[in-house]
Amino acid sequence: MQKIEVFGANKLKGQINISGSKNSSLPILAATLLSSKRVYLNNLPKVKDIETMINLLKSLGSKIKFDKKRLIIDNSKQNKKFASYSLVKTMRAGILVLGPLLAKFGNAKVSLPGGCSIGTRPVDIHLNALSKLGVKYKIIQGYVHATAPKGLIGSKIRFPKISVGATENLIIAASLAKGITILNNCAIEPEIKDLVNFLIKIGCNIKWVAKRSLKIIGVSEINETTYSVMFDRIEAGTYLVVAAVTEGNLNIKNVIPNIIQTEINTLKKIGAKITVKKNEIHIIGNRKIKNMNIKTAPYPGFPTDLQAQIMVLLCKANKKSLIKEDIFENRFMHVAELNRMGAKISTNGNKAVVEGNINFAAAELMATDLRASVSLILAALTAKGKSVINRIYHLDRGYENIEKKLKKVGAKIRRVN
Ligand code: UD1
Repeated sequence: MQKIEVFGANKLKGQINISGSKNSSLPILAATLLSSKRVYLNNLPKVKDIETMINLLKSLGSKIKFDKKRLIIDNSKQNKKFASYSLVKTMRAGILVLGPLLAKFGNAKVSLPGGCSIGTRPVDIHLNALSKLGVKYKIIQGYVHATAPKGLIGSKIRFPKISVGATENLIIAASLAKGITILNNCAIEPEIKDLVNFLIKIGCNIKWVAKRSLKIIGVSEINETTYSVMFDRIEAGTYLVVAAVTEGNLNIKNVIPNIIQTEINTLKKIGAKITVKKNEIHIIGNRKIKNMNIKTAPYPGFPTDLQAQIMVLLCKANKKSLIKEDIFENRFMHVAELNRMGAKISTNGNKAVVEGNINFAAAELMATDLRASVSLILAALTAKGKSVINRIYHLDRGYENIEKKLKKVGAKIRRVN
């Protein structure tokens, strides 16, 4: 099994190019199932989750190939409606094929998803909302067996809680439903806006009618299109924290800074010097890091996907900080490993008290989920000596070429077998 070795405590300087967004590419790939025309996608990140979604689409009968950096998807002969456990188990976004398969065929059998072990992560909101479009379902031996006897029919739906995945599944499904669907209390993450822009480009009729409300008029025709997915805002945020925690000096390129304004403001308050250009953010980490209380929230709040990374930074603050995790109930699995490196973090339910003034010590570590793994790399980058991070397949699910990108700016990091 592969590991990553980090020899820490040197300052990082240079430029990092941000890849395309994993969390945008996944629903867009699922949404291509609506089409029987060709779709050309640019800027997909080369990460494991995208490979898994491509394999899932292929198992459903999609013809997919890379032409240089562009992915060509041909669903003209796509005819299967069964998404197996073996493909959905590692990636929760597998459930996103349910909406488009039901919209296209009126029935589907999709495995309940896996993904990071950061909470129970049910799909009840997806299923209840789909049933309002006329879907009947049963869960048998880990599979959702769903049918829409009269096809999908537009409806008015209010999500009981903001859910990124349920919003995406419903937007995609409603795009081909008969009549009008109104979705209220939608997630408004930038990746959802990217999905909506993609769907509009293939001919769907979708409009934002209020901050968290969408009006979708079902269509029957889908166009051929070329689309470029947005930048990965979590990857960008991660490298901003890398600069802040290593007292580095980094230019983060290929981004749209105003999309990550919350993260930029947070890092400024903590003490980093940040200047912003059109598609670039320049950040210089400060030796003095100020403590801060942070709670995660749906966009435009502070992202849960950056909680583990910011925790590493707050371990170096002048005083104690508090972190409240308001999205997932079990997302502090990095804490035990960070404490093994010398951090003093205590948790109580969804709250963590993070003591400051910590110098991390190098250690052998075990990654537990995608963002937890990257937080261990961040801590290791600041620790003198050799740290070894095991189970890095979690990392490979969502970070493209992380060791290459960090090496380019001066980190001593390598992948070993
Ligand atoms: C997406 C992101 C993930 C991010 C999360 C929150 C992708 C591929 N993944 O995950 O990186 O951390 O948004 O920003 O885009 N919930 C239910 N029932 C449901 C659905 C969700 O109870 O049917 C709960 C979840 O357990 C969680 C909360 O709602 O506590 C938010 O989850 P959701 O927004 O759906 O996250 P994902 O779409 O899974």
